[in-house]
Amino acid sequence: MAHSSLSEAKKQKEDEYYTQYIDIENEINAYLDYNPKLFHNKIVLLPCDDPETSNFTKYFAQNFEILGLKKLISTSYALNSKRHKKGHQLSFLEENDKNFDKSITNTNGKIFTLTKDKNNDGKIDIEDLEWDYLEGDGDFNSDEITKLRDVSDFIITNPPFSIFKEFYNWATIEGKYFIIISNKNAVTYKDVFPMIMNNQVWTGKTKWSGGLWFETKHKENVDKVIDGIDMKNIPAIWLTNIDHGRRHEPIPLMTKADNLKFNKDLAGKKDYDKYINYDAIDIPKTLAIPNDYKGLMGVPISFLDRFCPEQFEIVGTSDNAMIDDVYKLTESLPRKFIEDYNSTGKKITKSSKDPVFYENGKDPKKSYTRIFIRNIDVSK
Ligand SMILES: C[S@@+](CC[C@H](N)C(=O)[O-])C[C@H]1O[C@@H](n2cnc3c(N)ncnc32)[C@H](O)[C@@H]1O
Repeated sequence: MAHSSLSEAKKQKEDEYYTQYIDIENEINAYLDYNPKLFHNKIVLLPCDDPETSNFTKYFAQNFEILGLKKLISTSYALNSKRHKKGHQLSFLEENDKNFDKSITNTNGKIFTLTKDKNNDGKIDIEDLEWDYLEGDGDFNSDEITKLRDVSDFIITNPPFSIFKEFYNWATIEGKYFIIISNKNAVTYKDVFPMIMNNQVWTGKTKWSGGLWFETKHKENVDKVIDGIDMKNIPAIWLTNIDHGRRHEPIPLMTKADNLKFNKDLAGKKDYDKYINYDAIDIPKTLAIPNDYKGLMGVPISFLDRFCPEQFEIVGTSDNAMIDDVYKLTESLPRKFIEDYNSTGKKITKSSKDPVFYENGKDPKKSYTRIFIRNIDVSK
């Protein structure tokens, strides 16, 4: 995992981060710009979403008619099953309702559905949500929620970070659209990357830089407080299998010669560094990709933020299962290089995956995780 640290792992065990309305609206607008009828007559499932805290529920309920939805289903996870129980309130719908049942309110999940103008005020909105207790605790992986997934067209949410991989595998099933939030590093997971490489999954419209700001219930891990609300910044991104315009915009790039002359990320270099353990050149930043290079190039994972499948083909990553395709020099990694490198006290073996190059032709340097790409036009 690139840039991994113990504290990041610890943070990923925390689940109570709530997505901001504006972030949801901006992201969904990108899909609607591309296909205004995307949600017409469709069923949307929000499987980790209590209307009390979830702006996903608020967004889809408030825009139910504009989007032309057939049905909105939002399910919530029981308080007693959550890792973090502090600071939670009863749902505004539950509190004063005749169905309120004190004996199961903390043990059972809830289902909220929206289909019609229940209160006859001439519009369908959040006031028309109907609710009930679920049989179980609302775990997305339960049979009860899986049945709801199977009858829905879209699975949309910011899922619990602590069990992202399970959620990803549950949500990405054939025939369903999904829009979910993940940590940036998830793109190299072995369940995720092959799907990105095969153009079955891609990142959303929202830029990666700056991460996303979430409201958090984890009081001990707050970055700033706005109007009394605790906020946390997380290097999070959107993952989806729904098309949008940004992904078809090619990255504007310079030639190799111009990059070496003008690009400050290559300042002082006579040429791009070539890896010792991969048949590829190292690209320090996405905008330093030369537009006239035929061979394989190792780019940072943030390249996916600008990836256009008509411009580049992804052939693998140094981080996981697809490595065999590009790890050409495993057998021929020069013995002298291994000896020299190990004599510096660092370790590289034949199975080292991180790309290594001699910086400026002399000092061995390991790069972070790289994605290997090829320019479609010039490599023809
Ligand atoms: C990162 S928060 C996001 C909440 C909401 N989707 C949003 O974006 O504001 C994930 C939520 O999923 C809940 N959760 C944790 N484990 C779950 C599970 N197995 N099934 C369903 N929800 C779960 C957490 O308690 C938490 O409220």
